[in-house]
Amino acid sequence: MPLIPQPPPPAGGALLTRLHAINAEHGYLPEEELRRAAEELGVPLSQVYSAATFYAAFSFQPRGRHTIHVCLGTACYIRGGEKLLEKLESTLGVRPGETTDDGTFTVETVHCVGSCSMSPVMRVDGDTYGRLKADILPRLLRRYQTEAGGMSDEGT
Ligand code: FES
Repeated sequence: MPLIPQPPPPAGGALLTRLHAINAEHGYLPEEELRRAAEELGVPLSQVYSAATFYAAFSFQPRGRHTIHVCLGTACYIRGGEKLLEKLESTLGVRPGETTDDGTFTVETVHCVGSCSMSPVMRVDGDTYGRLKADILPRLLRRYQTEAGGMSDEGT
């Protein structure tokens, strides 16, 4: 029996469910929402942060309306994935993990999205673009800046 009473753990993944709900509402995990979740679930704030940092799906920074994933897996790297990333960095003025000042794009890198035959590959939200050339990226990005979205397999 512990000498200091401990709060019961949140039942049935209630903490994870709450984190997903916060993330869905804000696009990231604002500190004030994490404090409120800890208080309402009756768990230490450190436990909330521990769970939030464990899952890569959660972010503590505001994210862009669109998330760009540039693949730097072996097949994509060999076929120009790094050039795509360099073009994105120079065009958008951000590095991997950052969000553009206007809140439109968050750029991240990944290591293989399972579309190696289409390398180099980039994903924007749920759209996959394969056999990409760096020089068409500005045109592709403009589609998302105007919220028109895109089509798969661009550049083929
Ligand atoms: S290495 Fe890029 S999709 Fe596989």
